[in-house]
Order: sequence, then structure tokens, then C-alpha cells
Amino acid sequence: MKSSQKTIYHNEPTIGQEEIEAVAAALSNLELTIGSKVEIFERSFSKYIGINSVSTSSGTSALHMALNAIGVSKDDHVIVPSYTCIAVALPVLYQQARPILVDVKDDFNISVDEIRKNITDRTKAIVVPHMFGYPADMNEIKKLCVDTGIYMIEDCSQSIGAEYHGKKVGTVGDISIFSFYATKLMTSIRGGMVCSKDPQLLDSVKELRYHDQCRLSEDHDMRLKYSYMMSDIEASVGIIQLSKLGDFILRRREISKMYKELLEGYKIEHPPEDSYKKHVFSRYVIKTPFNPVKVIDRMRSKDIFCERMHIPPLHKRSLFNSSLSSTGFAQTDRIINSAVSLPIYPTLDDDQVVYIIDSLNEVLGDFT
Ligand SMILES: Cc1ncc(COP(=O)(O)O)c(C=O)c1O
Repeated sequence: MKSSQKTIYHNEPTIGQEEIEAVAAALSNLELTIGSKVEIFERSFSKYIGINSVSTSSGTSALHMALNAIGVSKDDHVIVPSYTCIAVALPVLYQQARPILVDVKDDFNISVDEIRKNITDRTKAIVVPHMFGYPADMNEIKKLCVDTGIYMIEDCSQSIGAEYHGKKVGTVGDISIFSFYATKLMTSIRGGMVCSKDPQLLDSVKELRYHDQCRLSEDHDMRLKYSYMMSDIEASVGIIQLSKLGDFILRRREISKMYKELLEGYKIEHPPEDSYKKHVFSRYVIKTPFNPVKVIDRMRSKDIFCERMHIPPLHKRSLFNSSLSSTGFAQTDRIINSAVSLPIYPTLDDDQVVYIIDSLNEVLGDFT
């Protein structure tokens, strides 16, 4: 690495002067908690996605309220993939329901066949995360949900702006959730969103997100409520970031193209692609035939941080011992033993990307 080049981190948020000024302005307004900026952010996000939205304190709280709004309760089953962020399965436990973990496909997304094998008369919902920016097989899952009367929740936390047959992710399921955590495609520092075409579900989320929100129900103590609101400070960052999201995605797709073209393909399985799915590359996760820990260590010695994502997988965590599909986790195990996530974010310049590519080609060359 040239002495002028700095350490390349696995992830870095893209924050400009506009976000800094927006936070200062929101603080000066003294509208600190839920105020006018939250409303503007919700309106802008609804316009961007194409359906109505309610903001929340995080992606995890968004999913918790989505499950609650569709009526998931004690002993219900909710199907979730084994290879994903733990925040996809935890809110199912918050509702005293049981997550049923099923295997994924080699594109990192939940397998429709595995879902089908694990549906029972206790299955209430399926949570479908679009992993690393790549849409899951929504038509097939939607059809299965409609045929069996099961709710489909899209988890778009890693895929804001991704498209499936020209439709934005988040608009196909009965309800969808987003995260704006600092490592996501766009951030509000922390924060989330619930979207749905069903106004009743969104009213329910609005009512649940604040324990002092009494306007919507006659009996104020009818439901257990939470403190899951977004603040105006967070929303003011979210508004600016949303206006930059198109450029962020363009740059991520440019970097992905460089990786695809310049990394020596015979040693690497690149992320999936399909003409009817627009990938937004929140992560660029490759599979190699070599030990991922050793590959990451060698890259680290070149001042480049790469990561193994979502380890240990959910089926290896004791919290979910009673949640395992009997049909196994062969694909998840294969991913865990081969996947390496490379740095990809808008502030990486071309020189840095070329340095990552040269370094990885060299490291993988040494392993052969
Ligand atoms: C797929 C997925 N769902 C949910 C979450 C939870 O979001 P948050 O960190 O905003 O609670 C995350 C990320 O953290 C995620 O990657």
C-alpha cells in the first residue's frame, strides 16, 4: 500500500456537511423527540418506496411492531432464515412466538422450498430478508403465502432501493421493515421504518410505538405499548441521506462492477445477479475455496478490513435450539465456510478499490 493510503475499513458511513448542519438545526429548534422532521422523513420515504410508512427507533423495533400488528402471539410459528442478522429472529421471541429457522439458497436468501417444507398449521408469518442488497424470490414466496394464508413480512434492512421486476423491495409483502443503522445503505444514525399498503396495520404500529399515544384507541390500556419512536435529530439526518441514496447506490454498483471485472473469477464466486433483480450491494460478499479466516487475516496485513458476516449462523446459537428445521442447513454451512465480505461504500475511491482488488488477487494466488 502506498504510504499516502490509509487503512481501508470494512464499512464507513457517508456523512457530509449537510447532515452536520441538519443536526445542528434540529437541536436549535428544540424539537428533539418526535416532531416535524419525523413527519417529513416519513412522507419522503413513503414517496420513495411508493407506499405509506411509519418511522421507528430501529429495524429491530420495526420488526417487533410489524409482528405485533399482524397478530403474532404466544406459540405461533414464524419462519425465518438461518443465515441472517440475529435481529430478524429476536423479535419473534419478544412476542413469545417460536422462530422456525430454515436454510437459505446459494444466493444468501431464504429458500422457497425450505419454507414450503416447514409450513404447519401453527405458521403465522414468514420474515423474508433481502440479503446484502439482493432481492429474495418474492413472487414465489408471495404465492405460497397467499395459498396458505400466511403473512409475508419483507425485511429490507440491507436492501433499501433494491428492485424486483421493477418494483421496489418492501412493496410486495403484507408489511415491510427497514433499518437506518449506521452501517446501512443510508443512515439516520439509528432508526427504522415500517411500510404497508394496509392503513390498519400502520395505525396499529403508530399506536404501539409510543406508550403515551392514546388518540387511536378508546381503551388506552388495551395493548402493551413501547417507546420505539424515531427522534427529530435522527429524522433530519435521514431526510438528507434519502436525498443522496440514488448516488450512493450508483457508486456501490460502480464498485461492484470493478470487483466483478477485475477480481480473478476462477478463484471466486461473485454475488448473484439476475436481469429482473436490481442489486444495491449493501455488501459485496464473495465465496472462495479457501479458509475465510485466513483470507481475512492476509487482507488485514495489507491494511484492508474484510469480514465474515452473520457468524455464528442462527442454527448454531443456543437461543434457537428448539427452532430448527429438520431439513438441515447445508447451504448456510457452506456459506459460513467460504464467504468473505469486501469493503464497499460510496467514499471508497477508485485507487482504493484497485488496491483491494490487487491485494485480494495476490492473497488468493498465494493460496493456490
Ligand atoms: C436483515 C436485518 N434485519 C434487521 C436488522 C436490525 O436493524 P437495527 O440494527 O436497526 O435494529 C438488521 C441490521 O442490523 C438487518 O441486517
